[in-house]
This record gives sequence, C-alpha cells and structure tokens, in this order.
Amino acid sequence: MPFPQTRLRRLRRTPVLRDLVRETRLDPGDFVLPLYIEAGLEGRTALPTMPGVDRLSISAAVEEAGEVVALGIPAVILFGIPGHKDDDGSGAWDDEGIVQLATRAIKRAHPELLVIADLCLCEYTSHGHCGALRADGTVDNDASLELLSRTAISQARAGADVIAPSDMMDGRVGAIRGSLDDDGLSDVPILAYSAKFASAFYGPFRDAVDSAPAFGDRRGYQMDPANGDEALREVLLDVEEGADMVMVKPALPYLDVVRRVKEATRLPLAAFNVSGEYAMVKAAAAAGYLDERAVVLESLTSIRRAGADIVITYHAKDAARWLQ
Ligand code: PBG
Ligand code: ZN
Repeated sequence: MPFPQTRLRRLRRTPVLRDLVRETRLDPGDFVLPLYIEAGLEGRTALPTMPGVDRLSISAAVEEAGEVVALGIPAVILFGIPGHKDDDGSGAWDDEGIVQLATRAIKRAHPELLVIADLCLCEYTSHGHCGALRADGTVDNDASLELLSRTAISQARAGADVIAPSDMMDGRVGAIRGSLDDDGLSDVPILAYSAKFASAFYGPFRDAVDSAPAFGDRRGYQMDPANGDEALREVLLDVEEGADMVMVKPALPYLDVVRRVKEATRLPLAAFNVSGEYAMVKAAAAAGYLDERAVVLESLTSIRRAGADIVITYHAKDAARWLQ
C-alpha cells in the first residue's frame, strides 16, 4: 500500500513509538576497551594523537579495569609496549612479558573481566613488522607461525581468556589452535582478526605503541582495502582452521564487509573501531565541528546494525556512561 495509506512517519511521531520499533540497541555489554600497557612505566602517559587514551603502567591498567567493570563493559583487549625490542620479537612470548604480567594482575584483581590478548609481533620486533623477516626483508610466513604459537601459549598460560591474532599470516589460526590444544589449553577461544585491511586508520595506534614498520609497509600481509570477496575467503579459512569468533578491522569504512561476513558465517563477529576512527571524532569534536556524544552513539549503533555483535572501541567508557 503506497502513500497516502502508508505513512512511515506515523511510527516516528513520539519518542515512545520510536523506541518501540527501534531495531538496534547499544549495550555496554557488547563493548571491548583496548588498553595499552607499557613496561617500566609509572602511572599513565597521555597519547597526543588519541586524546583521552593513555599508555598505562600495570597498576594503572588494573585501576582502569576496575572502571571498565563498574561500567558494565565485559572485556578489555591488551596491547603491550615492551622494554626492549629485537629481530624476532621475543618479548611477545616472554612469560614475564608486559602483556603476561598485566593479564595476571588484571585477572587477580577482576576475575570476572574478560582479558583478550592481542597476539602479534609488531610491538616487539625492532623492525616493526608483524612476523619474522627473511634476509631480503620480506616477512617469512611459516617461520612466524612458530613464534605466534609460542606467544599464544604464553598468553593463555598467563590467564588470557581469549587469544586474538592480528598478524595476518596465512595458517596462523590453525597453528595456534593446534599449539593451544597440545598444551592443554583447548578451552581458550580464538578471536581471529580475519579481515584486517592495510589501513591508514591505524596511524595513531602505531604512534601510540611505537610499532610503525622501520621500512616498507604491511601490504604484503594485510588486505587490500579494495577487496570484499577476498575478505570472505580470509574469514572462511579462519573458520575452517578453528576460529571461534572473527573480526573485521577497521569498522566504519568497512561496514559492507561486516554485513557480508555476518551473513556468510553467522559466527560471533567483532568489529574494531580503530585508532584513526577515534582520533577523527575527537579532533572534530575538539574543534567544535561535531557533537561528540551524538556522533559516537550513532557510529557505534551503525556498527551493530551492520552485523557486528562485539564492538572494540576506544569510546567504550564514554559510551557506557552515556548509555547509563
Ligand atoms: C598490529 C595491530 C594494529 C592494530 C591492532 N593490532 C595496527 C597495525 O596493524 O599496524 C590497530 C589498532 C588501532 O588502530 O586501533 N598487529
Ligand atoms: Zn602486527
């Protein structure tokens, strides 16, 4: 029935009606807050490119975790800034490494909070690439799998509830699953950064954790932003290899991929609203160009509407407060 019988404005007339027919709701229970934890730091250091986000000492991270719990946010994802870096990124699988120590401290203080360990080597390698290098400077996929597996075991033994590989090596989900299982860690789920694009939106993150590649770029392993079909191939391979949950990253410029992945897998799906997406909103809000609260809530709602179950976002604490 077309107009005039059909009038879609009828259901938009009052807040109560709009609320009744609303299709997507935001809930802090779907958020994950990223934390940057730095070895040897005391207190916190503000990040110039990400206003409102700090590098944290372990005790500051425990404090932050307490706030997260109080706001009804169920999980944090940890990124480490180690005291030293080397060619292989050995700090990643050090049982006394920064993420391992922080995981133990957070779980001791807040056992109910989920700790997701981001698993990659780029924060720990002196060259800043996500895997081990060959003599010619290219990333050696298969040699990296062994290092990633070691790291996964070390993180899980430290108490990480979920392991989230973000390196984009081929075969890493299968390798990590096998290693965890062999080590008696078959209950630890894998959240795979399956469709991770070679994005300029990671810029502020790389400044924050000092992980920009010393030479070259990540286009030899992260995905071409132009490819949607290939994103599905990445996701389906990770599912075959044993991923329990999958991720699309970044979020807002890739909502079409979020939708396609959800429809293709029906798996729990995370979208990572990355550092550059955050920084743009903060900068525009600080300049008075945008209403921060409205833009953030609209953006997070859109990510959920596109099909993401879980939203990893630096806005998590603010959004949780606004939703109270
Ligand atoms: C590294 C990693 C990156 C992010 C998470 N893990 C950046 C990169 O690949 O350079 C991005 C996070 C963000 O931008 O918020 N494996
Ligand atoms: Zn990496």
